[in-house]
Amino acid sequence: MTPRQNVRPRQPAAAQIHPSILAADFARLAEHAETAIGADALHVDVMDNHFVPNLAAGLPLVESLRKATGIPLDCHLMIENPDRWAPQYAEAGASSVTFHAEAAAAPVRLARQIRGLGARAAMALNPGTPIEPYEELLPELDMLLIMSVEPGFGGQPFLDLVLPKIRRARDMISRHGLELWLQVDGGISDTTIERCAEAGADVFVAGSAVYGTADPAEAVAGLRALAERHQSRGL
Ligand code: DX5
Ligand code: ZN
Repeated sequence: MTPRQNVRPRQPAAAQIHPSILAADFARLAEHAETAIGADALHVDVMDNHFVPNLAAGLPLVESLRKATGIPLDCHLMIENPDRWAPQYAEAGASSVTFHAEAAAAPVRLARQIRGLGARAAMALNPGTPIEPYEELLPELDMLLIMSVEPGFGGQPFLDLVLPKIRRARDMISRHGLELWLQVDGGISDTTIERCAEAGADVFVAGSAVYGTADPAEAVAGLRALAERHQSRGL
């Protein structure tokens, strides 16, 4: 595996928590980012109002956050034409760049480009997108994101129907002997994280469950403890 200049040389926790800034106060973002003490990375949702019916963040915000905070930035691009835009997020200092399988024209080339720019390459699947067609592509990735809501908005209820897909993804990762992080995003809370951990996820995005509480740092620690207690035996 090639070294990733944007990635901190650290052992990731068994269960990583990535708070989503979509639920944070955008006027006090840097300050709010720092309140989620203990988080493994900050999840930055980028939306273009085309791939999803909402608009959020963008390259200038990532560049500013990079300068203002030391926490790794996990950029989730819910945008059309990621082939054109995703590499710029790696150049801006994102530690990982996630493009959607539904939007990428040449996912292998794109993943290699992101890795070549020093970031982790990740691909996301919407709830209705099967994983099977992408099995051969997994070695090109550092992380697979399985959406547990339809992308576009924070605060939506968790979709249980994705649990079998998380299990199948974990099986594929084990079968191929890959060091691939399995991330889940949408509706993750202290009532849903256990099911995802049992199914085999090891990276958990949480927006409202972290920034919607009085103590984001405590929420991060609580979610991680719950996930680690229920993590799949297969990990
Ligand atoms: C949804 C975004 C999520 C969202 C998660 O399209 O990709 O990252 O912010 O928010 P919660 O945890 O509130 O569902
Ligand atoms: Zn997201």
